[in-house]
Amino acid sequence: MNGAKILDGKLAIVTGGCQGIGKSTAIALAEAGANIAIIDVADAVEETAAEIREYGVAAKAYQASVMDFDEITQGIEQIHKDFGAIDILVNNAGITRDNLLLRMKEEDWDLVLGINLKGVFNCTKAVARIMLKQRRGKIVNVASVVGITGNAGQCNYSASKAGVIGFTKSSAREFASRGVCVNAIAPGFIQTAMTDSLGDDTKSQLEQQIPMRKLGTPEDVANVVVFLSGPASDYVTGEVIRIDGGMAM
Ligand SMILES: NC(=O)c1ccc[n+]([C@@H]2O[C@H](COP(=O)([O-])OP(=O)(O)OC[C@H]3O[C@@H](n4cnc5c(N)ncnc54)[C@H](O)[C@@H]3O)[C@@H](O)[C@H]2O)c1
Repeated sequence: MNGAKILDGKLAIVTGGCQGIGKSTAIALAEAGANIAIIDVADAVEETAAEIREYGVAAKAYQASVMDFDEITQGIEQIHKDFGAIDILVNNAGITRDNLLLRMKEEDWDLVLGINLKGVFNCTKAVARIMLKQRRGKIVNVASVVGITGNAGQCNYSASKAGVIGFTKSSAREFASRGVCVNAIAPGFIQTAMTDSLGDDTKSQLEQQIPMRKLGTPEDVANVVVFLSGPASDYVTGEVIRIDGGMAM
C-alpha cells in the first residue's frame, strides 16, 4: 500500500469545524489523507486550519455563517476555485437554545432552525451543483438521536434534527443515480462544549439511560464520518447511523 490513505487528495468541507465534533472530524478526515476546508463563524477558524495543516494536508479557513445563503454560496464557490473539486461535505455546524415550549422564544426557534436545518440546505445546495457535475460526492449530515426520539426542552432542536433526517433521505433519492451519497449520523450524548454545560448530576443521570453507561467522544463520531466519506460506504445512501452507545435502539 506504500502508505496510501483512503482519502488521499480528496477535498472535504467541514462546517462548524473549529471545536467539538467538527474539529475531531476535520482531524480524522485529514489523518485519512483529505485536504480540509473549514467553514465556521468562530474567530478561531484560521488557527484551526493551521492546526489541521500539521497533519500534512492542505487546509483553509472560511469564516462564514451556514445560515447565510449568499455568504455560503460565495464561500463554497471560493473553496471550489481554491481546491478544484469538492468530494465530501460534512454538515456539522449546529447549536442548541433549549427551553420548554411554553417558554421558548420565537427567536430561539428561528435561530436553531436557521443554523441547524437551513444551514444544511444552504451548504448542500451549493455543493450539489459541483458534485452532480463531477458525478461523485459524499455528504454527511450531523443529526441527533433527539431528532428520532424527541426530547423535552428541545422542540426547536429536535425538530431541526428530524428535519435534517428528512432532508438527508430526500436529497439521497435525488442524487443517488448521479454518484452522490447522502447519509446522516445521529449522535447521542457526546462530550463537547454543547454537553459541558450539563451539571455532573445530569450527566450521571444521562449515563444511566445509555446501555454502554458512558458519554461518547467526538472521535467516536468522527470515525463514522470517515467511514461515510470513504469508499467503504459506496453502496450506502439515505441511511441514518446512530452513535449513541445504544441509547435510542
Ligand atoms: N455534543 C453532542 O452531544 C451532540 C449530540 C448530537 C448531535 N450533535 C450535533 O453535532 C454537531 C456539533 O456539535 P458539538 O457538540 O461539536 O458543538 P460545539 O458547540 O462544540 O461546536 C459547534 C461548532 O459550530 C460552529 N457554529 C455555530 N454556529 C455556526 C454558524 N452559524 N455557521 C458556521 N458555524 C457555526 C461553532 O462556532 C462551533 O465551532 C451539531 O450539529 C450538534 O447538533 C451534538
